[in-house]
Amino acid sequence: MTKADPKKFHIKSFGCQMNVYDGERMSEMLVDQGMTAAENSEAADLVVLNTCHIREKAVDKVYSDIGRLRRKDGSSPMIAVAGCVAQAEGKEISRRAPSVDIVVGPQAYHRLPELMETAKSGKKALDTDMPAISKFDILPTRGKQARPTAFLTVQEGCDKFCTYCVVPYTRGAEISRPWSDLVDEAKALVDGGAREITLLGQNVNAWRGEDEKGNMQGLDGLIRALDRIPGLKRIRYMTSHPNDMTDGLVAAHGDVGSLMPFLHLPVQSGSDRILKAMNRSHSVRSYLTILEQMRAVRPDIALSGDFIVGFPGETDQDFEETLQIVRDANYSQAFSFKYSPRPGTPAAGMDDQIAPEVMDERLQRLQALLNEQQYAFNQQTVGRTTDILLERQGKLDGQLIGKTPWLQSLHIISPDLKIGDMVEVEIARAGPNSLTGEIKERMAA
Ligand code: 5AD
Ligand code: SF4
Repeated sequence: MTKADPKKFHIKSFGCQMNVYDGERMSEMLVDQGMTAAENSEAADLVVLNTCHIREKAVDKVYSDIGRLRRKDGSSPMIAVAGCVAQAEGKEISRRAPSVDIVVGPQAYHRLPELMETAKSGKKALDTDMPAISKFDILPTRGKQARPTAFLTVQEGCDKFCTYCVVPYTRGAEISRPWSDLVDEAKALVDGGAREITLLGQNVNAWRGEDEKGNMQGLDGLIRALDRIPGLKRIRYMTSHPNDMTDGLVAAHGDVGSLMPFLHLPVQSGSDRILKAMNRSHSVRSYLTILEQMRAVRPDIALSGDFIVGFPGETDQDFEETLQIVRDANYSQAFSFKYSPRPGTPAAGMDDQIAPEVMDERLQRLQALLNEQQYAFNQQTVGRTTDILLERQGKLDGQLIGKTPWLQSLHIISPDLKIGDMVEVEIARAGPNSLTGEIKERMAA
């Protein structure tokens, strides 16, 4: 069956911020091609599911979402599956879900318009190449931004091969985007209204590149260059690997004014034995040492992390050590997951897979501790005066929601403020997941 020429698209991104960024770039490209964004998938004649393959549940979700796109009259929009499931499953997707027209991997989505041409003629279109020409060279330049906070992918892929992880297979080898492209993209984002930029990468702190003078720079050098862009108020970055944490990056947290006091540094487990089996190549001690260095230059830094419970062979003792590192490190927020065997990864074939009920129990205990720490962190910021960048409208009349420097959500009621404003507030109350504040004064935009 041939599909009509799609005019309205809807992109649904799952998983990490890298996918959110890719979704935005696809959206900008489709708008550049004359299409318009639809409110939701019902109103769209092209639906892009920008998928995540990191855990099994994420994959199941894609197939149930594809099923739900079928309309009452039996028709369906043109469906493109993008992202890491597309990369990992390829042709298998349109075999399992025949309503899928296009399968496009994370390094090939700049070819979406050509793939749509193929799909229009009724053929299945597949592109999971990792081409030599970067998609970034082909995508349209960044324009007006819908929000004051923007993502900027600086590095993609991963060479670390943690034994549980699909990323090195779906996103390929580590590649750093060139310095000048990043500085230009950041300037375009700021010109388009962004006030905060979050630098993204699977291993963002592994970014390396030559500056305009030909000197080799790390992420800290790039951050220092972006700090000089007028109008850019805040810089963040994620996700970092402990082994790529340099002294320069630690130092930047001490003296770069726009670099926010927040660090997402996954440790995954608090047991050296499990870290070794995970091929993490850092230890509990080396992780805690980084935190000590970071807190020496930036005592108020908010720490975030990722944890996996129930990795094959994890004993009660190993798990107790994970609880211990959480107590020692003290997180302001964190993500924790049950281990999910991913096809093709070394851990999937390891002996001693952990029973689901053991994982459930461990996850509950870990999350209880992390929630307690998050609440305590929020409470100890009450009474502080700090700046907030207002990002979106709240549910109540005149309510706006912004983020503190420590990435907490803060609600404020003020009818004369608008999204994009930076305001100074006093943190009045703290809940487990958010804060409320009272206005002190408005800052220069
Ligand atoms: N099972 C469970 N969690 C995983 N993660 C990555 N792979 C797996 C897996 N197979 C988690 C890690 C990583 C985060 C993005 O997802 O904690 O840091
Ligand atoms: Fe996956 Fe490990 Fe690479 Fe992170 S560092 S993307 S967990 S392989």
